[in-house]
Amino acid sequence: MSVSPLSRLQDMASPGRLSLHENLSAAWQSPSNIAIVKYWGKKDGQLPATPSLSMTLDLAVSKTSLLVSVEETPKGLISVNDDPNHPFLPKMQQFFHWMTGEIPLFNKITATVTTHNSFPHSTGIASSASGMSAFTLCLLSVANRILEAGISTEELIHLASYAARMGSGSACRSLYKGFTVWGKSTCVPASADEYAIPVNESVHPEMLSLRDAILVISGNPKSLPSTLGHRSMNGHPFFSGRIGQANHNLEEALHALASNDFEKLSFIAECEALTLHALIMSADPGTILMKPATLLAIDAIRNARKGGLPLFFTLDAGANVHVMYPATSEFQVEKYINDVLRPLCEDGRVIFDGCGRGPVCIEAR
Ligand code: DP6
Repeated sequence: MSVSPLSRLQDMASPGRLSLHENLSAAWQSPSNIAIVKYWGKKDGQLPATPSLSMTLDLAVSKTSLLVSVEETPKGLISVNDDPNHPFLPKMQQFFHWMTGEIPLFNKITATVTTHNSFPHSTGIASSASGMSAFTLCLLSVANRILEAGISTEELIHLASYAARMGSGSACRSLYKGFTVWGKSTCVPASADEYAIPVNESVHPEMLSLRDAILVISGNPKSLPSTLGHRSMNGHPFFSGRIGQANHNLEEALHALASNDFEKLSFIAECEALTLHALIMSADPGTILMKPATLLAIDAIRNARKGGLPLFFTLDAGANVHVMYPATSEFQVEKYINDVLRPLCEDGRVIFDGCGRGPVCIEAR
């Protein structure tokens, strides 16, 4: 059995460091991300069945703080935002339980979490990616300090990517700025199923300032939890073909990013988004997540592109539409969004964001 990278924390711990501590805290801000090549379908061990490629967002972040005491009678993770019945608590406790298996120190703590998103719920922005990555960073920062392990921030971020995927797969891609690949692929030699890696060095600078406007077509919570969605790929008749397609699309998308080929990136991103929905619709049971206004927006985006405007769409597992465009054409594209696409949105809601800079440590005390 391979050794978990998280054992590094315990290995580096100063001997006898586990004395009682009161009120240690850590706080991180971590972003959400939007996938260009989609992760949909898993292997055992919370590993992705296909590689994926995402762009880290800038303004859509979770700000999370963790307060911890090392105690003789520890209670584990007891509340989120001072609420012992908070809806996020069970998923966070499940992840905390897994972390405890990896870092036994967590058996000795009582912890509370405070977390807030900069973006509203059900907008098509993945709060599990930002929230779980921020929570993981807080846990690892606190462990690093209590154990006096002296792990550098760079290594901590790598360990956080390894761990965060157990909270939510896409969260492991939120640990880095710019563009990130998760999942082993022959076209990215350093890639791995267990953690994500940044690929910005081979991305053209113009692609690193890509914008993303989220059209909030529906603010209703999406009707397909991603865990069920991933599971529905087991035995799906199209899934073996999907694996080859995702690997091919990753290679093509990386070429497009390197050569600033917007047209190619548009083709891949839209193919990925529509494939995701085709897989979801044709699963057993199948679900239609797009709304009529989703299709109207897709049609309008494609028409505008035919007319020479540089923009493309992608979709998550929901009805809302991410519109992506280069910062150099921001003025023209945002005018089009405001004039033509905004009226398709619920209450005219559009959230403007773009390619982001990754997590930020807010506090470690
Ligand atoms: C459609 O990361 O939410 O957004 O690992 O079960 O937490 P779990 O799934 P999750 O799945 C994200 C699926 C997606 C595509 C993507 O982000 O790649």
